[in-house]
Amino acid sequence: MKFSVATGNLTARKEPLILGIAEGKDLPPWAGGWVPPIRKAVQDLLKAKRFHGKLNETFLLPLGSQWIILIGVGKKEDLTLDRVRQAAGTASRRALAAGFESVARGLLPVKGATAEQVAQAVVEGTVLGTYRFTQLRTLSPNEKKELKAVTLVAPSARDAAAAKTGVRKGLILAEAVVWARDMVNKPSNRLTPTMMAQEAKAAARKFGFRCQVFDPKAQRRLGMNALLGVARGSREPSQFMAMEYKGPGSSSKKPLVFLGKGITFDSGGISIKPSEKMELMKYDMSGGAAVLGAMRAVAQLKLPVHLVGLVPATENLPGGSAQKPGDVVKALGGKTIEVINTDAEGRLVLADALGYAKRYKPAALVDLATLTGACVVALGQHCMGLMTNNAPWGAQVKEAAEKSGERAWELPLWPEYTEAVKSDVADVKNVGDGKAGTITAAAFLKEFAGDTPWVHLDIAGVAWADADKGYLRKGGTGIGVRLLVELAKSWKK
Ligand code: BES
Ligand code: ZN
Ligand code: ZN
Repeated sequence: MKFSVATGNLTARKEPLILGIAEGKDLPPWAGGWVPPIRKAVQDLLKAKRFHGKLNETFLLPLGSQWIILIGVGKKEDLTLDRVRQAAGTASRRALAAGFESVARGLLPVKGATAEQVAQAVVEGTVLGTYRFTQLRTLSPNEKKELKAVTLVAPSARDAAAAKTGVRKGLILAEAVVWARDMVNKPSNRLTPTMMAQEAKAAARKFGFRCQVFDPKAQRRLGMNALLGVARGSREPSQFMAMEYKGPGSSSKKPLVFLGKGITFDSGGISIKPSEKMELMKYDMSGGAAVLGAMRAVAQLKLPVHLVGLVPATENLPGGSAQKPGDVVKALGGKTIEVINTDAEGRLVLADALGYAKRYKPAALVDLATLTGACVVALGQHCMGLMTNNAPWGAQVKEAAEKSGERAWELPLWPEYTEAVKSDVADVKNVGDGKAGTITAAAFLKEFAGDTPWVHLDIAGVAWADADKGYLRKGGTGIGVRLLVELAKSWKK
């Protein structure tokens, strides 16, 4: 998809147009300069209540030889960058469905946002809203059609210059999310831990960051027995990815460390899951994919940060040498863990990753993981769960979540919850007492984060979409990439 920026009157152009309409019975204020026939046609539709301007509502309007896609953006006083991103996703998907190969569209005014930011949101929404995972199937001739060219029409030369920068940044972000989505959507036989590590290495070479991969032998040497314990039930070797990026002027600074759960398939192990929907457990590496995507985008944007990305990757299977309920493993760093339930494997692999993070003397930690079904129950698919051992750091992550439109909601992590993960035979056990499952999972991780400011993001509910919506497509969402990049950008030590 090619993006270009133009100035002039959007509605005087000949290609199909995307026009944003605010909720209400009148034309939005930005319709002032539209050519009279378009103004009239849209006004008539609004009057007749055939179109309302509700967020993500669309209407395909033929006008003479021209096609117009109307896209609702909701009440104009509620317009945010994320609503612009959503509307761009919905409208461009409508354009694709209509078979248009090129469209022109404007840049809506968003209170408190620059033209650059609006253009960036439009590009992200457009690319992500038309994303498809087609690698593994045959396409019909109709499906082979693509939306090839999108022109952003800016009101002034000054806005056009800003929009060009927004386009460049938006493409970097969107392509990183697309990469993450592709990895999430790939089934476990197409993305093994080894293949995921190869993806990371190739991206490191291409975009300019370091990537070391530790195989099981190296993991043993390092003492990553919690990761190795999970990997025992599978023939696929576990891989531990350690990536590092030093942006301009950042090399002497303590790094920010991102950690992502990389379970390429979670059968539950010996504590096996029911077969209903088990195929979805290919998305259990979504946290890892987010970390990879963020490393790539941060390096490509050349942000001035010192960043480390850690991804422990393995399958969780019930093979003949699989670990068993009751087994005790010693994690990197020396703490022993009683494995009560082999399906609570994410916290095990993250325990070793948190232990490994200590080597960098990190300034702060963030982990992302599809960690608990309980989080899906508690928060649904509209936000991730956030838990922290450090309120100021938690506040920074919340702000980045809000800004990126990848929303997070905090759950408490009081010391009382730690009681639930105490073991009779080891230092900790890997399940709680059956209550507050999302929080007791975090209480377990907290034991391995130590004193370093740390935030845990449970993305189990938001890493997979059940239907197309805004810029989300049914399937892997690639959530976390944009939040982490925003955090790397806004990070205040
Ligand atoms: N990967 C799952 C969590 C999950 C469930 C993610 C549903 C997405 C959708 C995780 O490894 C798991 O199985 N957690 C268990 C923990 C329990 C055994 C304490 C769970 O949530 O049931
Ligand atoms: Zn599990
Ligand atoms: Zn899992």
